[in-house]
Amino acid sequence: MNISIIGTGYVGLVTGVCFAKLGNKVICVDVDEKKIEMINKGVPPIYEEGLEQLLVENKGRIEGTRDYEYAIQNTDVTFICVGTPSRDDGSIDLKFVKEAAEEIGKQLRSKDRWHLVVVKSTVLPGTTGEVVLPLLERHSGKKAGVDFGVAMNPEFLREGVAVRDFLEPDRIVIGYYDDKSREVLRRLYSGFSCSIVETSLSAAEMIKYASNAFLATKISFINEIGNICKKLGIDTYEVADGMGMDKRIGRAFLDSGIGWGGSCFPKDTKALVRWSEEIKEELNIVRSAIVVNEKQPLKAVELLRKHLPSLKGKTIGVLGLAFKPDTDDVRDSRSIPIVEKLLEEGATVKVFDPKAMDNFKKVFPHITYCSSAVEVLEDCEAVLILTKWDEFRKLDYSGKIVVDGRRVLEAKKTARIYEGVCW
Ligand SMILES: NC(=O)c1ccc[n+]([C@@H]2O[C@H](COP(=O)([O-])OP(=O)(O)OC[C@H]3O[C@@H](n4cnc5c(N)ncnc54)[C@H](O)[C@@H]3O)[C@@H](O)[C@H]2O)c1
Repeated sequence: MNISIIGTGYVGLVTGVCFAKLGNKVICVDVDEKKIEMINKGVPPIYEEGLEQLLVENKGRIEGTRDYEYAIQNTDVTFICVGTPSRDDGSIDLKFVKEAAEEIGKQLRSKDRWHLVVVKSTVLPGTTGEVVLPLLERHSGKKAGVDFGVAMNPEFLREGVAVRDFLEPDRIVIGYYDDKSREVLRRLYSGFSCSIVETSLSAAEMIKYASNAFLATKISFINEIGNICKKLGIDTYEVADGMGMDKRIGRAFLDSGIGWGGSCFPKDTKALVRWSEEIKEELNIVRSAIVVNEKQPLKAVELLRKHLPSLKGKTIGVLGLAFKPDTDDVRDSRSIPIVEKLLEEGATVKVFDPKAMDNFKKVFPHITYCSSAVEVLEDCEAVLILTKWDEFRKLDYSGKIVVDGRRVLEAKKTARIYEGVCW
């Protein structure tokens, strides 16, 4: 098929490159000229394992442009993959989705063939049917379900393993407005062996939010259990292993530590809670999961203070800035509140991350960025491990106080003092 992708961030670019790998012709649209230039040179603007190789291998089938007209006229299906960030009050900001829908609508006006518009961005129930569809109709002067199709196909990929997740998903969810849209998406995904859930637009939207909220809650739950375990001298990971053997529970997402971050869980849980207030329904469990998660990173600083009661004038090393390993994404990373707290307490902060330093510099331009993990360990009084990068396992932590937020247990062997956040 000929596919256009609107928004070439983590989801859009991975989606585009993977569809190209599967033999489709893909046109990626972004408002960011720099990203488009990079894509056309075969260089992904983001770090994601395996993405560069796939982009280069499929260069003949994928191109970038800022031109909506070119993209819509030359494709049959358009995926909206723009960001859906939080506003200051936590509610979802749909401005990018609305802009994309308006632009697509304008281009559909002059299109002489049926076209399918698929929302892949994470949006609250009702958004595709009540915001995107009317914008498409208004700007195209055409009728949804007749002149063009509408569908909602949430994305479940995880950064760090995004290519694999996209190509081998647990399930594919197709929310459809009209039968033809369902047929086209069925065909597009016909090579995938996983289950396909076909449902309404709103149910597809809700499946995404409920999944993210549940996973975030699972982590916050084990973190609270972990805080109790720490106090009692119990290893939470043994508890999680024992719990996880129960098939009703499962072991995934029971790794306790300094909490969840990233571009999805924080903003999606907040959006869900704000929305529940608007529609006057309670969402107490998710609300509590957020509260737990906001406090959890500061446990690392509390443990540090146990051994260094005053941080004023002390040099503290930070290993890991990305919200998880194998990505350069620092959005809502737990390292942000921790570095903030260290600075507030008067510490000098030295940091290293193998991929995320450029992004972190945009948040904290004035801390010391080291060129290696070894350099962080030189001359610091204590070190905090905040991302589970593989290379942090092999370091020599001799003489150091180590506070480990991510269960890099190897550090315990050489550290002078070792504190795990929940173990
Ligand atoms: N990142 C993830 O792991 C992940 C996983 C599943 C779902 N999602 C959801 O997917 C959506 C995209 O997330 P992301 O992390 O890829 O975002 P991102 O911020 O990395 O990328 C969004 C891109 O859209 C572009 N853009 C903004 N407005 C545009 C417009 N009008 N026209 C064309 N391009 C435009 C931006 O320049 C940017 O490159 C969000 O709704 C997110 O919640 C993200």
